[in-house]
Amino acid sequence: MINAVGSPQSLLLLGGTSEIGLTLARTLVADRCRRVVLAGRPSEALDRAADDLRSAGAQVEVLPFEASDTGSHPALVEKAFVDDVDLAVVAFGVLGDQARAEVDAAHSVEIATTNYVGALSVLVPVSQAMQRQGHGAIVVMSSVAGERPRKSNFAYGSSKAGLDAFATGLGDVLHGSGVHVMVVRPGFVRTKMTAHLEPAPLSTTPEEVADAIVQGLRRRRETIWVPGTMRLVMSVLRAVPRPIFRKLPI
Ligand SMILES: NC(=O)c1ccc[n+]([C@@H]2O[C@H](COP(=O)([O-])OP(=O)(O)OC[C@H]3O[C@@H](n4cnc5c(N)ncnc54)[C@H](OP(=O)(O)O)[C@@H]3O)[C@@H](O)[C@H]2O)c1
Repeated sequence: MINAVGSPQSLLLLGGTSEIGLTLARTLVADRCRRVVLAGRPSEALDRAADDLRSAGAQVEVLPFEASDTGSHPALVEKAFVDDVDLAVVAFGVLGDQARAEVDAAHSVEIATTNYVGALSVLVPVSQAMQRQGHGAIVVMSSVAGERPRKSNFAYGSSKAGLDAFATGLGDVLHGSGVHVMVVRPGFVRTKMTAHLEPAPLSTTPEEVADAIVQGLRRRRETIWVPGTMRLVMSVLRAVPRPIFRKLPI
């Protein structure tokens, strides 16, 4: 159960090797989170992540999870919820290659399948399990990329726009049920996902995102931007007329 100061004591991390997700997991374990379920594609990195969290004092289970294997998701969620899950975090995703996505339909489909279809496929059983449990929070890693499509990454942005809309609607449906849904819209975060790119203005770190998630959950926020100034930046960018927007070097 989430304790009196709002700290989750059990975590399901979908995307068990996500740098943002694992930074959040370490923060929560340092703050009395005792049970962690890491759901991810089997790899040495996933095993290492589990060992690190065990060394930090958590009881860790590892469950195989492939976003595109939607048929396996209900059973995975059932296994994760054999005990209480206070917080579930949807942290998997791929950035993809925008130039390739424009000419290779299979690559566009892969981005959409991982970031959008796969996420919806786990969100539905997770939200049902949490409603049965009667309490908990779901954090969904969206992105500012979904707020307005940019020429430079609209394949990824479109998948996040769809996910963001679904998660926001789910949050409204679950409002008052005891299950809290929080949508997280980071800007550029310096992780392995973006390691090949020049950091964008206002770029941030996994630590800053994890802290913002913890604070957002405590305040029961429904949407957060990281850094917070991104909210203002995006509200300005949304208002830029399209003929100008398409010429911006972003
Ligand atoms: N970094 C940013 O700038 C940024 C900004 C805004 C939003 N976000 C979002 O924040 C979340 C976490 O990002 P991050 O920066 O922590 O990225 P990351 O370190 O690259 O982690 C991505 C995660 O997604 C998993 N994944 C990819 N494809 C998968 C699949 N088909 N099935 C299951 N798992 C799969 C990866 O697992 P493997 O280890 O098996 O590959 C990894 O656990 C993502 O949803 C991302 O879109 C990131």
